[in-house]
Amino acid sequence: MQDDLERIVGDVPGPNTRALTAPLRAHESRNVTYVGDDFPVFWKSASGATVEDVDGNRYIDLTAAFGVAAVGHSNPAVVAAIAEQAATLMHGMGDVHPTAVRTELLERLSRILPSGLTKTSLATTGSEAVEAALKTAVLATGKHRFVAYNGAYHGLSLGALEIGGIPKFTQPFAPLIADVALRLDYPDALTTTTKAAIDALRAALEAHDDIAAIVIEPIQGRGGCIVPPNGYLAALRTYCDARGILLVFDEIYTGFGRTGNWFACEHDHTIPDMICIGKAMGGGFPISAMVARAGVMDAWPASTGESLHTSTYLGNPMGCAAALATIGELDQNSAKFSLADRQVPIRVSLPEDTRRDLSTLENLPVPTANGGAVPLKAVADITFGQGPTRVRRYNQERRLTIVADLNGVELGTAMDKI
Ligand SMILES: Cc1ncc(COP(=O)(O)O)c(C=O)c1O
Repeated sequence: MQDDLERIVGDVPGPNTRALTAPLRAHESRNVTYVGDDFPVFWKSASGATVEDVDGNRYIDLTAAFGVAAVGHSNPAVVAAIAEQAATLMHGMGDVHPTAVRTELLERLSRILPSGLTKTSLATTGSEAVEAALKTAVLATGKHRFVAYNGAYHGLSLGALEIGGIPKFTQPFAPLIADVALRLDYPDALTTTTKAAIDALRAALEAHDDIAAIVIEPIQGRGGCIVPPNGYLAALRTYCDARGILLVFDEIYTGFGRTGNWFACEHDHTIPDMICIGKAMGGGFPISAMVARAGVMDAWPASTGESLHTSTYLGNPMGCAAALATIGELDQNSAKFSLADRQVPIRVSLPEDTRRDLSTLENLPVPTANGGAVPLKAVADITFGQGPTRVRRYNQERRLTIVADLNGVELGTAMDKI
């Protein structure tokens, strides 16, 4: 182990942690921090991937601090941006006096988010971003019921709890929580297929015409890091479009490069009507946002001087500066988190008849680098969904996932790497 990574110099927890425990216990709500004999340690500083406790022990932070430290703890660019902003203007007045740094962030977000997500409502915590999505869905549809998932975690404010799917967080507050959400089992790629999951969704929602939105984590985080089957998010999109239901992705945990793309929904080439982001967004500084399609966000009336949805720290300048610096860092290093280098373009042009009969696509001869040919199904998992045609190298066995928009099929170029 390198000297600059893990370094244990004494007891864990050490004497300084133990000394700080008594005042913490005396003055903090006892519900906040679990304090046992061997856990936790008090943190003193953090840098990059390591955290140091108050006794000088240093640890590798494999948790990325709740998924926040996507650009590392105290990333120098983020630190500098916050320091400069703090010295210039620490607080803007929420919805009253906007700032240039806030406007710059709004523009930047619309450039890194999937296309069409252009209108933002900034906030401070993830739960607030979720609340904004719920309120927007009600305004935009005139409906009041949500579809959510067992095991879901969207935060602990009352609205977010309504679509949460972890009973220990909801039950103590049951009388205050609307609890009219329809809950589905989160589809796990290891145990179910997109077709089975969508059939279950159809059956559950068949009799309901009161659904405002389906709210889903593209990868269920706190519920156990559960990945849905390929194509599920795209199938949800198709279902929602057909039923006039809004689709909300909670990417608070998965956003900002944490799954190999800027946002997890990009793996399924699916664009929601609203996306909730937070955590890694500010590189450690609290800031969050709900970003929507303009047509959805415009369900809110224009402000006449009294905003219906705001907060004191909305668009806080330091948060905006931190987010811009974080995005800049991710942008510069996107090759490191991107799977783009593992994508292979594929050189196949589809005959006319395959556009009508999709089953023949499976046997489409795919030229290989050595001049031979293999049927497409031998090298590809094929999913028909929305969005541009993409091909990804999927795993060591050289299987590919193809997502094809068959309205304009072009399976692209270059089998040379297969
Ligand atoms: C997917 C998801 N949504 C929402 C939240 C709530 O965010 P916050 O704790 O900032 O309110 C979390 C927090 O873990 C989360 O993982």
